Amino acid sequence: GAIGKDGYRHYMEKELHEHPLVIGQTLQRLVDPASRTVVLPDMPFDLASVPRAVITACGSAFYAGMIGRYWLEDIARLPVDIDVASEMRYRNPPLTSGSLGVLVSQSGETADTLAALRSLREKAVHILSILNVEQSTMARESAVVLGTVAGPEISVASTKAFTAQLTVLACLTIATARARGTLDTAGEEALVAALLDLPSRAADVFTSGDAIRRMARVVAEARDVLYLGRGSMFPVAMEGALKLKEISYIHAEAYAAGEMKHGPISLIDRTVPIVASAPYTPLFDKTLSNLQEAKARGGRLLVFTDTKGADRVSAIAEDMVVLPHVHDFVAPILQTIPVQMLAYEVAVLKGTDVDQPRNLAKSVTVE
Ligand code: G6P
Repeated sequence: GAIGKDGYRHYMEKELHEHPLVIGQTLQRLVDPASRTVVLPDMPFDLASVPRAVITACGSAFYAGMIGRYWLEDIARLPVDIDVASEMRYRNPPLTSGSLGVLVSQSGETADTLAALRSLREKAVHILSILNVEQSTMARESAVVLGTVAGPEISVASTKAFTAQLTVLACLTIATARARGTLDTAGEEALVAALLDLPSRAADVFTSGDAIRRMARVVAEARDVLYLGRGSMFPVAMEGALKLKEISYIHAEAYAAGEMKHGPISLIDRTVPIVASAPYTPLFDKTLSNLQEAKARGGRLLVFTDTKGADRVSAIAEDMVVLPHVHDFVAPILQTIPVQMLAYEVAVLKGTDVDQPRNLAKSVTVE
């Protein structure tokens, strides 16, 4: 039957509130509760012997893939190439047969992602797809499907499917790292514990609704917004900027915070709010010094941080949202939730058609 909004104003708001549930459901599929280890379905190839991975996707799924790249390189020590599917399908990259192709898609029907899948398969690349719709065209053409268990996503702008994609990529990273011998048992336990803790930490994010709505009032007045982050927080910034563009029609650009001085710093003044994702990770100090450079030029800083970063952020930010402090590994998953919520609240203030933004489609099945 038809899926209702359960008292929420829009499907997007309802789906935002499903983040804790879908992260938990996805983990239930991929983590054995007794041994607290990641257990992936049997694969017709060995993760230990893939020489490299190629990740490709479109839209939000591409940003999930970018975070996956940081994890696979850092934790599994696997070389990774990544590109949007509309480029990958025509790039003809040289690839050793037996490489791993990681395709990420909510619908499993996006035309460019499907074409990229087929072009990778022609190069004898093993196709592993991370899909929400497990009965889809991409599913039928993949050697392995890892489901995101997010349930139907009605809002055109993706929310819960994105954190579910990250949860699967996190588990894939752990399994790959174990297979390649770059993660020992204690290391795996720590990462799995961080993942299992996430659903309740994600539920805590909703207590920050007032602070997020306060930030939304500043962003809603702007014509342009700059999103900043470093490391795995850079794709979080990209996801935040994309969401804002999609549903509020405000121009936003995401930049790697350390690269800001090579261009967008010239744009900074009181009229361009800066939204930064800066939890207390090893790149916290570096990010903060980038934010200080922006503030010195009159930038208004709206910062997403965590309990360990809050004191130092409050000294420079105009406003901030303080999330629970979590393991660095899962910080990008948690930090995604408030940037999506911010875009939602801005769109509500602007009165746009949140669930059906103009010119966009839930699934783009033509090139
Ligand atoms: C469309 C949607 C986006 C989505 C993208 C990829 O552009 O508006 O929200 O991220 O397609 O869709 P997929 O189903 O492949 O994840």
